[in-house]
Amino acid sequence: MAAPDEVTAGRPPELLRLSGGVSLLRRRTSHTVALNKAVRANLDHLRPWLEWAAEAPSRARTAELTRAGAAAWEAGTDFMYLVVPDAEPGRVIGASGLHGRIGPGALEIGYWVGARYVGRGIATTAAEALTSAALALPGIVRVEIRCDQANGASAAVPRKLGYRLDRIARAAVRAPAETGRQQIWVKERPSPDQQSGPDQQPDQQTNRQTNRQTNRQTDRQTDR
Ligand SMILES: CC(C)(COP(=O)(O)OP(=O)(O)OC[C@H]1O[C@@H](n2cnc3c(N)ncnc32)[C@H](O)[C@@H]1OP(=O)(O)O)[C@@H](O)C(=O)NCCC(=O)NCCS
Repeated sequence: MAAPDEVTAGRPPELLRLSGGVSLLRRRTSHTVALNKAVRANLDHLRPWLEWAAEAPSRARTAELTRAGAAAWEAGTDFMYLVVPDAEPGRVIGASGLHGRIGPGALEIGYWVGARYVGRGIATTAAEALTSAALALPGIVRVEIRCDQANGASAAVPRKLGYRLDRIARAAVRAPAETGRQQIWVKERPSPDQQSGPDQQPDQQTNRQTNRQTNRQTDRQTDR
């Protein structure tokens, strides 16, 4: 039976191979140094859109967040990945994740890609793989990508993946380039009559359990 805080009783794959010679790997403490280096090298690139990039994190802080992420993975509430080149899996060139912070039955995808690697389709292929992984999890029927209206590069990702722009909502301005108007892009699990087999039916029991979950905006896991 799912624990009360779980978003899903399942767990996504720890390795997702993407096209273009990169993979998503479950974030682990063995990547702390490489991740910290990548974040510090990209602060100017990330700061306009990501509140956590306001200041350079210490290695200890990166390690602490990784441990919290590992615990959240085990608890089934949040699944953090790193983008790594297959030829050099010890190097980090970005991060992405499935975050259980938008209420029951749903996961939100977040992402960043190092400045030297943007424009190669990495965020799009990562989000595509994570969308499929999320919608394959028991109890998950919706995936969202949220971004500020002015963040054209981020909005291009769900648009290219066929997400539907569900709404534009007011949001707190947390990073310097944000306008406070947040686009909420949605992809839903196909309804049963659009699906090919019984294996893809939503897990009703888990849905009931996750329906009890509240929207935990105050304790946000991010891809920092
Ligand atoms: C957003 C981000 C993750 C995109 O990563 P990426 O790997 O370059 O993304 P992709 O290459 O898959 O797709 C980006 C698309 O945006 C387009 N794009 C880039 N800048 C754009 C802009 N200002 N307006 C509109 N589209 C833009 C690109 O042309 C590309 O589309 P195309 O493949 O049709 O040419 C990356 O720019 C980033 O890390 N930004 C800083 C952190 C951030 O904003 N994270 C998201 C917070 S919501």
